[in-house]
Amino acid sequence: MERAMDKTQLISEIARLKQERNAVIVAHNYQIDDVQEIADMVGDSLALSRYCAGTDKDVIVFCGVHFMAESAKILSPDKTVLLPEKYAGCPMADMVTSDALRAKKLEHPDAAVVCYINSSAEVKAECDVCCTSSNAVEVIRSIPQHDIIFVPDCNLGSYVAKMVPDKNIILWDGFCVTHHKIRAEEAIKIRALYPDAVFMVHPECREEVIELADFVGSTKQIIDYSAQSDAKEFIVGTEMGILYTLKKNNPDKIFYLMSPGLVCPNMKKTTLNSVYNSLLNMEEQIELDEEIRLRAYSSLDKMLKVK
Ligand code: 13P
Ligand code: SF4
Repeated sequence: MERAMDKTQLISEIARLKQERNAVIVAHNYQIDDVQEIADMVGDSLALSRYCAGTDKDVIVFCGVHFMAESAKILSPDKTVLLPEKYAGCPMADMVTSDALRAKKLEHPDAAVVCYINSSAEVKAECDVCCTSSNAVEVIRSIPQHDIIFVPDCNLGSYVAKMVPDKNIILWDGFCVTHHKIRAEEAIKIRALYPDAVFMVHPECREEVIELADFVGSTKQIIDYSAQSDAKEFIVGTEMGILYTLKKNNPDKIFYLMSPGLVCPNMKKTTLNSVYNSLLNMEEQIELDEEIRLRAYSSLDKMLKVK
């Protein structure tokens, strides 16, 4: 009977397979610490998209959720893109379908359509341009039309609508199950507990929570902001995986998670074992219909040209 490998053996086997396959491992900021540790690049959705579009490796192992690996494949069709955990999905991305979006477009024939990167390739193919939480405001500002359908995140959409008041943002009713469940009362309680702490939140939070924050930004923007701030204490209003980088980059600062509920179960599915098996068996490969991919590529490419 084969014995399970310990952590050190797993890490060295992953390194060996990575070289053999000419692969790169990328990880989202919400991945577990072990996975972030072995990744060649850790970042937010925008930084990871850019990185994958520019890599010269043959294989991309995407430690994140399905829409992220799919975006890498849209941008790099000739590469093998692996999602180590087949069922690591994003519930918010599943809250909009291409059929439902086409019906919405018929209701607003003059509106531009913007999709958050947290969406499927089929949905991206129906849109004019894509955005992430890092560049959503700039993307919306770059659009000539007054009316803009924004899918699927109603929280990011209403945040952007406030930042760009001259546009009419038509919201979808999607949301991130992890961020949306946190209510203002919880934020108020933790602010009262740590009155000197700077309160940072992700724009996937409810409007009532965002209103209480000192800083609103994507995971990378939160990481950058806390590094350059003189403050010593921070309340973190996004998924707990980000604490790994925050603590590593700022050993002299203290970070409090806004709520113990800030855990994305899908982001936690990927382990060192999943990465090892993925490289060993070259699974789970992302495949896309070429016609869909080309249309989705146009949305992502336009976004990358804005910012
Ligand atoms: P960013 O890392 O781009 O801020 O996105 C957060 C997220 O929800 C990923 O699912
Ligand atoms: Fe989706 Fe929210 Fe998880 Fe991000 S944190 S992958 S938006 S469910």
